Amino acid sequence: MEIVVLADHVSVGELVGSTIADLVQNDPATVLGLATGSSPLPVYQDLIDRVERGGLDLSGATAFTLDEYVGLPPSHPEAYRSFIRRVFTLAAGISDDRLKTPEVAGSDIVGSCARYEQAIRSAGGVALQLLGIGSDGHIGFNEPTSSLGSRTRMKTLTDQTLADNARFFDDDIDQVPNHVVTQGIGTILEARHVVLVAAGQSKADAVAAAVEGPLTAMVPASALQLHPHATIVLDDAAASKLTLLDYYRSAYARKPEWQGI
Ligand code: GLP
Repeated sequence: MEIVVLADHVSVGELVGSTIADLVQNDPATVLGLATGSSPLPVYQDLIDRVERGGLDLSGATAFTLDEYVGLPPSHPEAYRSFIRRVFTLAAGISDDRLKTPEVAGSDIVGSCARYEQAIRSAGGVALQLLGIGSDGHIGFNEPTSSLGSRTRMKTLTDQTLADNARFFDDDIDQVPNHVVTQGIGTILEARHVVLVAAGQSKADAVAAAVEGPLTAMVPASALQLHPHATIVLDDAAASKLTLLDYYRSAYARKPEWQGI
């Protein structure tokens, strides 16, 4: 696991954006794993800027999102498919047919989850999975006690996540859907490179638990400790509770540039 600590959220976006841009330049048909939430927004902005400057073409890439609310009409602005189109894929030139999101309509959620897993496999697997982290340590919508081997399935949100996400629903917790479909932790761990981004003091405890705490289903992001290529990119505030902070900083400063992240 590599921990990269940068001065601010914009720098986090630039570093991860350049990594994704390099990946797509090497393979225009790259399969990307996208995350919602506010943490990846500077990454998306960096990529959109590159596309608008003419330095990057994302039109051949395919994108799979991590999760989706159950019970929101697809047209709802906070449905994750709407969100990711609005903040990223439309401006980045990734067409709707290349944007894959979990299907949550209809009664066959179990079948649609299995089909989502199959679609990821058929596409050749995810090359780079972008992740945020919930304040309770969740990734995707894998709440504490999610199986570390879990696959795409329906989950029920914790009260903490409902409260955290109420800000997207007029601060009204009763409007936040209780149920979601999310890629499982086992699904996420199959991506070839996993990049978790976090910014702000509110993420410091979850980041410290995920990076330096024990591997435990109580902190789903700690499962990244099992991944052979996991990169955690933080701003100063999100990194502030890490015990080995000086080591992470000096290791990154001494890293040969050719290694990338
Ligand atoms: C939601 C998403 C997660 C995201 C988390 C944190 O729960 N399902 O993928 O990481 O929010 O969101 P934010 O980055 O806005 O703090």
